[in-house]
Amino acid sequence: MAESHDPILLFDSGVGGLTVLAELRKLLPNAPVIYAADLAGLPYGDKTEAQIAARVAGLLGRMAERYQPRLACIACNTASTIALGMVREVLEIPIVGTVPAIKPAAAMTQTGVIGLLGTAATVRQTYVDRLEAEFANGKRLLRHAAPGLVEAAEAKLRGKSVDMAVIEAAASALRGMEGGDRIDTVVLACTHFPLLEDELAQAFGPGVRFIDGAAGIARRIAHLTQGQPFPDAQSSRFVVTGEVQSAQALLPWLETLGFSTIEQF
Ligand code: DGL
Repeated sequence: MAESHDPILLFDSGVGGLTVLAELRKLLPNAPVIYAADLAGLPYGDKTEAQIAARVAGLLGRMAERYQPRLACIACNTASTIALGMVREVLEIPIVGTVPAIKPAAAMTQTGVIGLLGTAATVRQTYVDRLEAEFANGKRLLRHAAPGLVEAAEAKLRGKSVDMAVIEAAASALRGMEGGDRIDTVVLACTHFPLLEDELAQAFGPGVRFIDGAAGIARRIAHLTQGQPFPDAQSSRFVVTGEVQSAQALLPWLETLGFSTIEQF
């Protein structure tokens, strides 16, 4: 049985997992959370499968040792679609992954054409092929790798302005594919992207809905920790790999989520 001070570990390459944390806070406001951003490894999207698997499994192993979490969540589609199985084999705590929301998107679409935005590493995964075959059979799934959106989301949370040209390029790439003019549902298959939902809505125009996995992941974490004590969130911590300095500009945003400092892992 988990002790009340045992944290939940949320892991991402950067700030994307904060979209999961925001949903988790609605369900478990008092959960102590260690949010770990692998800023030294960001972005994952342009790395190879082997690099991502080794990095994520290694880091999560060391983090689990140091923080003794009751549960870990890989709040990153890229890391999950590649390394989830391996991490589950190595760690003895429950591991919650992030799965591109293709199933709910297939239930939502009226036109039968779904867009998917992710990192380059995510969009080429056989994991995504399997989700498409299982849940989007008879629909058309158009995928586009949009690494620029990861950078834009990181910049936005550091108080910088978002380059709309990058957002518009992602929308037009999907729109330009065969059948792309009929897209009515877009899967945000990278945890960074919901941070740009307003900008994406502007770029796609009316009639397009966005779906991501954050709320579902939060529900899964709440389910797996049901009945466990959560006395307060005071001991929550935000940790980064690499230079703490590179994250300082995030502090005003992090304060809204209850973190007052940034620590080095
Ligand atoms: N947040 C990560 C995801 O959900 C990816 C960002 C990156 O490229 O590191 O896929």
